[in-house]
Order: sequence, then structure tokens, then C-alpha cells
Amino acid sequence: MKKAVFIAILFGCLTASLPASEPQWSEVAPGVWRSIVGQPDAYDLLKAAGVPPAREALARVEPAQFPLPAGLIAADVINGETHLRLPLDRNEQIYGFGLNFKTIHQRGRILQLHVDHYGGKDDGRTHAPVPFYVSSRGYGVFVNSARYIRVWSGTGVRKDSPNFPEPRDRNTDKGWSARPYSDSVEMLVPAAGVEIYVFGGPKPLDAVRRYNLFTGGGCLPPRWGLGFSHRVPRLYDENQVLAEAREFAERGFPLDVIGLEPGWQSRSYPCTFVWDKKRFPAPSDFVAKMTGMGIRVNLWTNPYVSPESPVYETLLPLSSSHTVWLGIVPDFTLPKAVQTLVNLFKREHVDIGVSGYKIDETDGYDHYLWPDVATFPSGLAAEQIRQTYGVLLQKATTRVYREKNLRTYGLTRASNAGAASFPYVIYNDYYSHEDFITALCNSGFAGVLWTPEVRSSQGGEEWLRRMQSVCFSPMAMLNAWASGTKPWSFPEVERQVKEIALLRMRLLPYFYTEFARYRFDGIPPFRAMALEEGFLADETRMESKGASLEQNPYEEAVLKEIKDQYMAGEFLLVAPMFKGQASRQVILPKGKWYDFYTGAFAGGGEVISVTPGLDKIPLFVKDGGIIPTMPAGLRAPGRGQKFSLEIRHYGAKESVYTLYDDDGETLDYERGTYSWRDLRVSRDAGGRLVGAVSPAGQGKPDNLGTVTWTFMTR
Ligand code: GAL
Repeated sequence: MKKAVFIAILFGCLTASLPASEPQWSEVAPGVWRSIVGQPDAYDLLKAAGVPPAREALARVEPAQFPLPAGLIAADVINGETHLRLPLDRNEQIYGFGLNFKTIHQRGRILQLHVDHYGGKDDGRTHAPVPFYVSSRGYGVFVNSARYIRVWSGTGVRKDSPNFPEPRDRNTDKGWSARPYSDSVEMLVPAAGVEIYVFGGPKPLDAVRRYNLFTGGGCLPPRWGLGFSHRVPRLYDENQVLAEAREFAERGFPLDVIGLEPGWQSRSYPCTFVWDKKRFPAPSDFVAKMTGMGIRVNLWTNPYVSPESPVYETLLPLSSSHTVWLGIVPDFTLPKAVQTLVNLFKREHVDIGVSGYKIDETDGYDHYLWPDVATFPSGLAAEQIRQTYGVLLQKATTRVYREKNLRTYGLTRASNAGAASFPYVIYNDYYSHEDFITALCNSGFAGVLWTPEVRSSQGGEEWLRRMQSVCFSPMAMLNAWASGTKPWSFPEVERQVKEIALLRMRLLPYFYTEFARYRFDGIPPFRAMALEEGFLADETRMESKGASLEQNPYEEAVLKEIKDQYMAGEFLLVAPMFKGQASRQVILPKGKWYDFYTGAFAGGGEVISVTPGLDKIPLFVKDGGIIPTMPAGLRAPGRGQKFSLEIRHYGAKESVYTLYDDDGETLDYERGTYSWRDLRVSRDAGGRLVGAVSPAGQGKPDNLGTVTWTFMTR
């Protein structure tokens, strides 16, 4: 017997007196299993979000078997904390654990999942530290706890591991590794119990879909939410805002939403939530003027309440022991606190036509946020409130719109599990273009949306490259709160910036449908390549860092991760260009891929090199890709407004794309007022490709005007 195996068996016997318990699983929805370990906290992530599973949609996903060897999962409560262990296979890769900015591959990482601003390191502290991971083997695991969970994702080696590696002698053995092979994901939840969920596949995307649907399905923004958003400098008054909106129109730049930053409020940091009467003497007239121009108004706020706010006295007894910027921190797990905010927001903003919010600062910086010793009137721990504060505010503000049968679309700096259906996009101040794209890839593993917002730039090239990326994200936004930039701020690329913003507008029917698929099928509209079929390990081959032992005694082989290209919807592959890049490599998954702009064949199952020039962001379309577009307008079509469809088909394949349509603004779709129409491409008797659109159906929404087809690949 080999010595290592003997040791493993021996230790296995020694630890037998401390057996790890095998959790029991019950299937709580099709392809979703739950185990309750110990005594979970009464408050958890799913309770904070309070959104029921989309059960009918879950039943439509292909059936699945329990995807893990149940006997290899262990869960124990020891000294009041829950220890979890789940197995990993040799070539298995792990994705997820929230909105990470630098890494896609999470195997080998040690994290503490903690809501925070992103501080430049993937250590688990991020705007949405969602305790959900997805495996390349096609399953997902979610730990439903609002605690700071610690994760060792394939790093610990237990002495009783059945895969105990052979110990090596560092003196003589080149194969010695500072990070010996680990066969499990381990987690420590600081609570005497927890609910764990396992989501079946068979593909990784199926597990993601089940997770999203289990948490209610993704959000469906209003149509206007997918147009262009611009946030003005923080102290702009109403005349400056109106002038800025007019200038967009005069210059022919699209604009659907203008965001006001802190100066619209009479006081900010902490906030009053009421208008500043000097800068905005007649808020209702101002919003009406904007709406008259077809532009929505979004309001920035943070949730910390100033003593000058009309709701301060009511919220005071309902708030934390500690303050943030000397403002009180309402306990939004208390219905009365929520109702107080909802009433004020409704009266002051939503009733006069404000379209949504940017809810800032719910993530925190430790030095200004409430500390973990703070107490809250609900009796919940400060930690639990911190993990869910962003979610609670998304929930409360969504409710204001829900009560008016309206959709909203806004911004949040914090989120967590369970919030996929809330119409909020995460942003931050970190501003690395490259890492913003990695976050966009990772958002699809976490049930959250992310915008790589544009703010400023050192020159025209970077400005354009960032604009090109943000137009292929959940929110095409320029946030000029500090910089005062406009889309046309760099005259040398003004034409190209306008072109990309207008391309975004042309693609609205496609993006809107892809969001409907997020809502109805759980498919994230923007997602990492790892979720794309045909994007296999042979394209992402093993690479050694190749550093010398002297420079790096802990050299390890790393699997190359692809974090600079992503999928936008079913057919589009986006490969952003960064400042200083004239060309780049793009990995095209198996199958045939075509250039979006020309329809020319680009490759398939290979790495290609592209030199697109400054004007273009590289975009590729799958064989048989059907992309519904519309004429470029300066605003998204309004309620009931008909629009023409210009449908593009790529490649040679016959195919079908199902176009989604509804009124674009209300929640009537939740009651069945929507249509899915087949856009079908087939070959006629002469072998030529022809397109057909199926009818909307009796009494169903139909906003289509004329329809034209372009077969892009000749
Ligand atoms: C920051 C936020 C910015 C801007 C600013 C206003 O926290 O990330 O986008 O809103 O506050 O003070």
C-alpha cells in the first residue's frame, strides 16, 4: 500500500469519532433540492428579497437528477457555526460567488462573502457577494444565509480525503506544490444552521436558469430602460438639466433617461429625500417638461436620513443604534419603516412622474458604514442587515412602482441573492474598463445586472472604447456626476460615439427580448463564455505562468480564464477593445460565427485575431442568428407606439427566434398581456432563405409596423 493512501485511511479512522453528517435533500421545485442543516437563522437572503419562485417556468426547464454524489456532501454544526463541504472533481471549474472583478475561475480562491464596495481584490468583499456557485459540470449550489460566509473553494486538504495527494519532498521533487490538490469546496457559516440549495443541470446554464427562476426570474425593464441614460453633474439646477436634454436632441444623440445626482435634494449625505427648492423650485413642472420631451427622470439617493427630512421623527425609533454620516439608518426589515419611505417616495417623486432611483451607498466602506456592533430594532444582527440592505431598498422602491402598475429601472450599489427580479443594475466607482468587463461576465453567474458605466477618460480612444462596451451592457449610461462630460466631449470620436449609441437603439427589439428571456426563462442577458455551449476546455487550455522558482516559489499552473469577451443574448458575442489595443484575439466557440457588421464568415471553434479599427467593437453572430433590429430613434418606443422591424439573419442555417412584445411599461405582462412571435428563416423551393413572422395572437400586444429581412451572409 502506498504510504499516502495508508495515512489517509489511518486518519480517516481517527476522525471517525467526529463524523461529518450527510445532509438530507428534498426536491422543492423541479430540479431544485434543499437541505436544512441545524437551526438556520429566521432571517435569510430569500426572506429579505421575499420573491416567490417562478414555479411554472421552473417546470419548463428540462428535468434533472440530483447532480452530486450526495454521500460526499457534509454539513455539521460545530461550536455554533455551520461547516459545509461539497465535492470537486479533478477537472471541474467553479464560477460565481458574486460580482467579482478580476477572476472568473473561483476554484482555488479563499473568500469572505461580505457586502462592500469593491476594493480592488477578489476576496469576497463586493457589491453583490452572492453565495451561489456554478460548476462546469453543470450544477449550482446556493447557501441561503445573510451572514458573512467564508469560502475555501478547492484549497483545503483534509487528512481523510479520499483523493489525498502524495506528499512530496520539496528538497528534491520538482513536482512539489505549495497548493496541493484539494477535492472540495468548504464553507463556514457563522450561524448554528443554514439552508442549502442544489440546482440541477445538465448544463451550467441550466443550473443558472434554475437559480434565477427559483429566485423569481430575472427582471424585465421597461423598454425605455434599455435606451441611453445620462447622469448630470451633482449640482445642476432644472434649467441646466433641461438645456442638457435639449442639447442631446439637437446633436442627434439618443436619450431616454436623465439621472439627477445629489443636488436635487435639499440636503444629501445624509438625505432628506425632498427637492431642493432653489435648484428645483417646481419639481412637478420640471418632471412634466422632461416627460414632455420623452425623457424620464431618475433620482439619486442614499438611504441615510437627515434630521431635516420630513420622515426623520417617524424613522428615528425604527433605526439602528449607529448612524451613517450622522444620518439615521432605518431598519427596513420593519414594515412601518418601509411604509414610511414608500409613502414619501410616492408622494414626492413617483406621483409626479419620476421613473426610478439610483440607490447609492448601500454597500459601504467600513469607515463610514454602521459597524458590526450596531444594533437594529428588529433584533437582527448588523451583519445580516448589511448583507441585505441593498436588497431591502430595491424591494421597497420596486413596490412603489408596482402599486402604480408601472415598471421602473434603476441603479443600486449593493445586492445579493434573491434579487434577480428587482429591476436594478449595479455600478461602482472603481472604473477599470478591463475589470468592468470581467464583472459583466460574472454578473451572469450571480443573478445580478452590472453596468460598466462611462464617466471620464484621458482621451478620445478610451472614451470611445468605453462607450462601445457600455452600449453592450444592461444599462448604456454616461455618469457625468463629477466629470461633467457629455457623449460629445471628445470631438475626435463624436461621430463614432453617436454611431454606437444609435446601434444600441437599433438593437432594442433584440435586447428587450433577451431581457424577457431572463424574466421568463431565467437566462441572463449578459453572461460569461463559460455558459456558452461549445466553449470548451480545449479552447481554454492549461497554461503555466512559467515564472522561475526564485521569483515565485509558489508557482502554480493556472487554467487560462476568458474574461474579456462575453455573450449578449442568444446570438451575439461581444469582444470589447481596450485603450491602446489595435488588435485582439477572440475565442469563437464551436460552430460557425459571422461578423455582425458584414455577415462574413469569421471562424468557429478557434482563436482568431481581429483588427477592427477605432470605429468598431468586434461583434460576432452565431450561425442561424436572427437579430431583430429597428430604425435608430432617439428614444425607445413608448407605450403602444408601433415600430418597424428590420430583421437580420446570419450564416446559412434555417432557424427561429422568438420575439417578445408587450406594452413596454406596465406590469400587465404578469397577467398574460404579452406575445411571443416566431421570426422564422427557412429555405424556399429554390433553396433561398426566406423569413416569416408569426401573428401576435388574438388580443395580444402587437407593436410591429413594417417588417423587412436582410440576409447578411451572401
Ligand atoms: C458615489 C456614486 C457616484 C455618484 C456620487 C454622488 O457614491 O458611486 O456614481 O452618484 O456618489 O455623490
